[in-house]
Amino acid sequence: MGEIPASIQFLHDTEIGLGAWSWGDRVVWNYGKGYSDADIEQGFRIALENGVHFVDTAEIYGNGRSERLLGQFIKNTDQPVIVATKFFPLPWRLTQKSVVQALKASLERLGREQVDLYQIHWPSPLVPIERYVDGLAAAHRIGLARAVGVSNYNKNQMQRACTTLAKYDIPLASNQVEYHLLNRNAEKNGLLARCQELGIRLIAYSPLAMGLLTGKYSQENPPPGVRGGRYAGMLKEIQPLTRLLTNIGQEHGSKSAAQVALNWLICKGALPIPGAKNVHQAEINAGAAGWRLTPAQVQALDEASDKLSPER
Ligand SMILES: NC(=O)c1ccc[n+]([C@@H]2O[C@H](COP(=O)([O-])OP(=O)(O)OC[C@H]3O[C@@H](n4cnc5c(N)ncnc54)[C@H](OP(=O)(O)O)[C@@H]3O)[C@@H](O)[C@H]2O)c1
Repeated sequence: MGEIPASIQFLHDTEIGLGAWSWGDRVVWNYGKGYSDADIEQGFRIALENGVHFVDTAEIYGNGRSERLLGQFIKNTDQPVIVATKFFPLPWRLTQKSVVQALKASLERLGREQVDLYQIHWPSPLVPIERYVDGLAAAHRIGLARAVGVSNYNKNQMQRACTTLAKYDIPLASNQVEYHLLNRNAEKNGLLARCQELGIRLIAYSPLAMGLLTGKYSQENPPPGVRGGRYAGMLKEIQPLTRLLTNIGQEHGSKSAAQVALNWLICKGALPIPGAKNVHQAEINAGAAGWRLTPAQVQALDEASDKLSPER
């Protein structure tokens, strides 16, 4: 493990976070149906009470609504909240200045003067890596971002981000990528290992495979909407894995399949940020931290996931 600069130690001290994509998003998560703002806020509060202080949002989630809700919830609590948000590479954002401008708008919605982590959401097909990263450096220099990171960057793109930030003596704090038992690309293509060598925190998004690893979905009960289409072909095949998650949970005093799936990521050295729509989900997910699977259990899960065909 590379030496961790003190300025980004807070990320390495964070075992688990809370994802806020569903807070306001109708397209994928059906916001407005089945869960209310009050449900989300109660989930947020129970997460804080259970030691989860890191919340990941983005300017595009619910077209700004997720950031606004988070800002509102923060006003209603005395607990410390570590806020991570993201810049989206919209096609007309061609300059490094657009990064600081977008962050100022996010800060306005969040009701904050600084975010703890500002991330480039995706690499842009139009703008070189270096230009947006120069924008991140500017945001950090003027105090609007305590730390800076990227998301969905491969090893090469991440290296370019690191090299650019090194010119300003700023560490790359994190790379947020999809990582869970049904998608282990980060592990298999060496990205996780490279992050660990460089002291970059790998943040695992969709750590429950958008709910599939909770074991609650099946062919008879597929997830609603877009997720149903994306995962329809996998629901039968993953049953042995979700059964194993449940069985391993029993060996740890009634931990749930979701908690085991999240703990597997913690054991791998990643920081999972499961989404939660209500108090029940947030409480379960918070209970995924503070304990560890045995190496044999991690290996058994690796083997069960290796038996699945790669994610389509
Ligand atoms: N950087 C990126 O490009 C990117 C992309 C995707 C996500 N993210 C981040 O990662 C976060 C998490 O990913 P995600 O929301 O895609 O997927 P996820 O965390 O794998 O799944 C979240 C969903 O699973 C269900 N769920 C969660 N906990 C549960 C529990 N304990 N029991 C039963 N059901 C539970 C809920 O949906 P239902 O109740 O409807 O099943 C919830 O909305 C996002 O909020 C976002 O912050 C980032």
